Amino acid sequence: MNTWDVVIVGAGAAGLFCAGVAGQRGLKVLVIDHSSKVAEKVRISGGGRCNFTNRLLDAAAPQKHFISQNPHFCRSALSRYTPQDFIDLVQQHGIPFHEKHKGQLFCDNSAEDIIRMLLAECQAGGVTIWSGCAVKSVVHTDAYTLETDQGPVQTPSLVVATGGLSIPKIGASDWGYRIAEQFGLRLVPRRPGLVPLTFDGEAWAPYAQLAGLALPVGIETGDKKNRMHFDEDLLFTHRGLSGPAVLQISSYWADNCPIRLNLAPDVNLPERLQEAKLRSKKLLGNELASLVPSRLAEAWVSQDTALQRTSAEVPDKALNKLAQALCNWQLTPTGSEGYKKAEVTLGGVDTRDVSSQTMESKHPGLYFIGEVIDVTGWLGGYNFQWAWASAHACAQAL
Ligand code: FDA
Repeated sequence: MNTWDVVIVGAGAAGLFCAGVAGQRGLKVLVIDHSSKVAEKVRISGGGRCNFTNRLLDAAAPQKHFISQNPHFCRSALSRYTPQDFIDLVQQHGIPFHEKHKGQLFCDNSAEDIIRMLLAECQAGGVTIWSGCAVKSVVHTDAYTLETDQGPVQTPSLVVATGGLSIPKIGASDWGYRIAEQFGLRLVPRRPGLVPLTFDGEAWAPYAQLAGLALPVGIETGDKKNRMHFDEDLLFTHRGLSGPAVLQISSYWADNCPIRLNLAPDVNLPERLQEAKLRSKKLLGNELASLVPSRLAEAWVSQDTALQRTSAEVPDKALNKLAQALCNWQLTPTGSEGYKKAEVTLGGVDTRDVSSQTMESKHPGLYFIGEVIDVTGWLGGYNFQWAWASAHACAQAL
């Protein structure tokens, strides 16, 4: 029998990182991935430049940037392996990087630099990687026996690092969730997160023409008790809304609930429109175009004939309604672009069945790391930091 100290299924961010650390601790490690290319999500992440961590992750309260049924679960791992720890590793490998926005760190050159680093760390730990190899079944007696395309393998420690469901065309699968169920662990329902939102039907028609327009906005969802707010950029698409603002809010959005947008967060729109009414002889549309992007101004003014006049001629009521509509635009998405466009999967293996110290599940010797667990980060490098930190916690415990 082909026997290993550790078998890790999934050669993505968490799996490769865990393998390198465990291998360098002297363990005999095998990583198996059904895709022919490893770490495909790292490759496409951050627009090809991999936003590999976030400097603003708060080590004292890391849970504020993460969503989980138990928001405190991630705290132990994230405070034991911090963004600075990963930055140190990136620097040891001589990878140039820069900070972009709100603490987000990106490679200067390419996400390939991070993949090369992960593989070099694996090589330093003598890790064996089988890519293009499917695992057909897992049984547990004294040890775990995996039936694979390359024959049976046996291990006392099986680490599941198969990630979430997003982007199935590059290898995402529900394997990790099925293994959790097979061994009696609970699952939190899954849904796409960090995903563009869509709007169907007539009501969206006036805004479809805005596809391609990007602007800074305030965005929120939820009621008074659970209100979530972000100040980020919005992007109009043919089917709805995207951009960082919408990706962030999508992880908090519940079906059939409205989102609220302030399309002019940096100006006091009611005041500026009243001023324009008192002094300007220009068409209201032209005045509005000096306060918000002109395509946006045109889309709003074209919907109401009362607004298609000089500023002085527009009735106060119509002016106030316009200001309100732009500063507190309420709309209810009809859906999302789903897993084919989502960056992450919310939900997953229930943290009640996993140790926050070691990532070992209630089934002895069976570990879960990375996105397959019910821990989802905000946009901005938080998901990779969770992958690194949970992998590191696990590798220390193996
Ligand atoms: P990951 O998905 O990385 O790896 C899972 C591995 O398991 C894959 O190699 C897969 O082939 C393999 N696998 C799946 N099923 C299997 C099976 N049945 N048998 C064998 N192997 C199997 N995050 C961030 O922090 N910064 C960023 O810039 C981005 N950008 C980004 C862009 C896009 C387009 C996406 C889709 C996602 C991001 N993310 C991100 C999110 C980030 O990529 C994600 O959270 C991590 O890759 C999760 O790491 P894991 O190792 O858990 O899964």
